[in-house]
Amino acid sequence: MRTLVIDHPLVTHKLTVLRDAATSAPAFRRLTDELVTLLAYEAMREMRVRPVTVTTPLGPAEGAKLASPDPLVVPVLRAGIGMLDGMARLLPTADVGFVGMVRDEESLVATTYANRLPTDLTGRDVFVLDPMLATGGTLETVIGMLAGRGAATVTAVCLLAAPEGLARLAAAYGGDDPVRVRVVTAAVDERLNDRGYIIPGLGDAGDRLFGQI
Ligand code: URA
Repeated sequence: MRTLVIDHPLVTHKLTVLRDAATSAPAFRRLTDELVTLLAYEAMREMRVRPVTVTTPLGPAEGAKLASPDPLVVPVLRAGIGMLDGMARLLPTADVGFVGMVRDEESLVATTYANRLPTDLTGRDVFVLDPMLATGGTLETVIGMLAGRGAATVTAVCLLAAPEGLARLAAAYGGDDPVRVRVVTAAVDERLNDRGYIIPGLGDAGDRLFGQI
């Protein structure tokens, strides 16, 4: 498992405004959208391409286009929905699957309540959208579902990650798994608190995007 921390000044700026408890929900949604596009741009750096020749007004030019099949994008409900537009802006032709996970606030164990994924992902690249990599339980489960369907690579795009969650994923997918796993994030924070929240973090990403329900 590899971790890529994007320490670009624009990313750091947007993340800092997101962290601020005074940032309003509309501003939080807009900044999340912009930040995901920046993270996604870096997350796609290793995408496979195929050589093509096009004809410019002055003659032939060698180039490259993204290889088939199109990647699959999987937002983890609910907070991952707030990341979908920012990702789809760069990959408009990607298929979109959904996984719904809810975390028990006492045990911190995540359970699956929705699953709309293709049954066969053989050889496909998958981008999972989950803003907060905290305990890693959710992503471990989702990556397991994707690997079980044959995904070649899984890249988790996260606004923030905790060392505990990264360690859990590295233990689960660090060896010689057929699926190659990467985490792309804007920052790795200090730790989790006893309620499984990232410190200093940005609070509950779902609540800040969509309000408390
Ligand atoms: N989920 C969140 O929304 N925030 C955290 O800090 C941890 C998990």
